[in-house]
Amino acid sequence: MKTLRNPFYLMAGIYLLLAAIALAARVLVMAGVLSSFPGLGWMSIHLLTIGVGVQAILGSLPALVATRFGGKQPGIGMTWVLWLLVNVSFGLLLYSMAVGLSMLAAGAAGGIFIAIILMLTVMLQRNEPVKVGTQAVLRLYIAGPLFFLVGIVMAISMLLNWPAPGQFLGLLEAHVHANVWGFLGLVVAGFLLDHLPVYVGQPLRWPGLASITTWLLIIGGVGLVAGPWMAIIPLTLLGLIVYVVGTALLLINLMSVILASRSWTPNLAHLIVAYLWMVVPAFVAPISLLLTGNLPTDRVQEAAITGLVTGWILQIVIGAFPLRFRELRHNTTGRDGWWFSVVVLSIGVLAIWLSAFTPDFASSELFTVPGYILIVCGWLPPLSIILKRLLGDGSASVQA
Ligand code: HEM
Repeated sequence: MKTLRNPFYLMAGIYLLLAAIALAARVLVMAGVLSSFPGLGWMSIHLLTIGVGVQAILGSLPALVATRFGGKQPGIGMTWVLWLLVNVSFGLLLYSMAVGLSMLAAGAAGGIFIAIILMLTVMLQRNEPVKVGTQAVLRLYIAGPLFFLVGIVMAISMLLNWPAPGQFLGLLEAHVHANVWGFLGLVVAGFLLDHLPVYVGQPLRWPGLASITTWLLIIGGVGLVAGPWMAIIPLTLLGLIVYVVGTALLLINLMSVILASRSWTPNLAHLIVAYLWMVVPAFVAPISLLLTGNLPTDRVQEAAITGLVTGWILQIVIGAFPLRFRELRHNTTGRDGWWFSVVVLSIGVLAIWLSAFTPDFASSELFTVPGYILIVCGWLPPLSIILKRLLGDGSASVQA
């Protein structure tokens, strides 16, 4: 069996760097040092979500499913087809979103859609029956990419103005929910249930909870996507409640593993604190609805998106990536994370949330600019570890 550098992980590392630069550029624009350029907001979010998240998943999921569930590994040819499809499509997306070419952007989204279908086709080719007790994780690994397909259809609907009962805002919300809570949320939950016990050397305390957790996350995710698309707020709220209960069960199981091991590390803290920032919007939206009768304002929505992307997605990436490298390499020495990053990132996200509740836009900037600066500062040390491991010692290899 020979090994090669995982081309998806390399791209994920490069995009993690570019996403940090894009966020720093946003800070400079806010501070008036740099003039804004088209697509910067979209780019800074999607460099992290598509650039890092999608590539990390394409680089891991087929191999994880093959090794854990007796499936087929994608061959070198298929790996490169997937890599080219995703990276050329993403390059086109970055260009077309910046210059406002919606048709080209929709075509590029179609390229990523095809890559995900191909990945699922490879993952579903199993030659052994799935062992009892492991179906829960496999269910999440398959359902996650299916949500992504729905999320891409929502994006194409926004780009091509396809009609929807919830109109553009319903499509946008459905897109965000399908991708963040559906796609990434499910795959990450599967990964943590499967791998955290290995990383800390303790079995899940309540393995029986895993199955119900997966169903709650999947059913909640369906409500969270269908509700905004159909403009049925009670359905969205129901989905939210079910999803939050599923997340609570997930966290109970994960926390029990970490507490039993008595081995808190910055990386484990990133993974758990990330979930705090994931569920904050779940509470803010219904509370705002109950108190004011309206869904949150633009500033609250912006804080929710920044909180989800930098508080949850970024912390999952910088928490899990170094652990995955260690697992692949077996003998990687050195530190995997910093407490400094855990603290500074969270204060940054907190500042962004506080900015949403200030009386006017001018005073909100007093929180947003330092908030983003803190996020960039917390981001840099883990970024340096990830890039060093990716470029330095070949720890990001895959079996081929
Ligand atoms: C093929 C993949 C994707 C395409 C084509 C796409 C496209 C889009 C489009 C067109 C918008 C609306 C921009 C606007 O307001 O005009 C958007 C917003 C957004 N997308 Fe995506 N997206 C993709 C993948 C993802 C993924 C994987 C995630 C997260 C995991 C994500 C998260 C978001 C978020 C959070 C927003 C809201 C941004 C804001 O309102 O500031 N997207 N996306």
